[in-house]
Amino acid sequence: MRELKIAVFASGRGSNLAALMAAIETSQLHAQIVLVVSNKADAGALEIARSRGTPALHISSAMFPSSSEFDDALLAQLQRHQVEVIALSGYLKKISTAIVRAYKNRIVNIHPALLPAFGGKGMYGIKVHQAVLDYGCKVTGVTVHFVDDGYDSGAPILQRCVPVHHDDTPETLAARVLEMEHKTYAEALQLFAEERIELVGRTVRIKP
Ligand code: GRF
Repeated sequence: MRELKIAVFASGRGSNLAALMAAIETSQLHAQIVLVVSNKADAGALEIARSRGTPALHISSAMFPSSSEFDDALLAQLQRHQVEVIALSGYLKKISTAIVRAYKNRIVNIHPALLPAFGGKGMYGIKVHQAVLDYGCKVTGVTVHFVDDGYDSGAPILQRCVPVHHDDTPETLAARVLEMEHKTYAEALQLFAEERIELVGRTVRIKP
């Protein structure tokens, strides 16, 4: 089977990146991670990439005189590595319209809740799980979705539920959700590899 060329963008520790790499090693995901991008020089995700010999790129808009020059440099790197799909994983910078256009329906994100609940600007990390507990939800989950110009607003591709326990803290809930993230992201990207994702309006249809 053809191997999908993926770039992972991450600002933090990179556990989803490591999970994707493990899914590739065990042939659950027929892909190659050809590039890891971070806006943070000290991101764990860059460390993971370097330790596996995967090209790791620290690049941020602050390094460029204008946002369009940043976009051009980033796009050149994506093209150089023949990236087909961009997988965001805790990437805390908004993807510019130029990049969204260049990779139309080929940028995905993973969010640690069931969108559209508990998403949007500023909803990331432990804040998401705290908000789920504050609301008194009995269930939360994971959403893999397309990335558009908004915050967490693109069409969902896969969603999975995770139970909330009565004695959960934001941290115990985050850990349970993260386990589900690791499985769900690989599954969603495998659907791309198999060319089984079809977008009809806002609805993603998974071809059999
Ligand atoms: C994950 O919880 C993901 O859902 C969110 O950011 C976090 C990234 O974690 N978008 P990691 O860096 O992959 O460990």
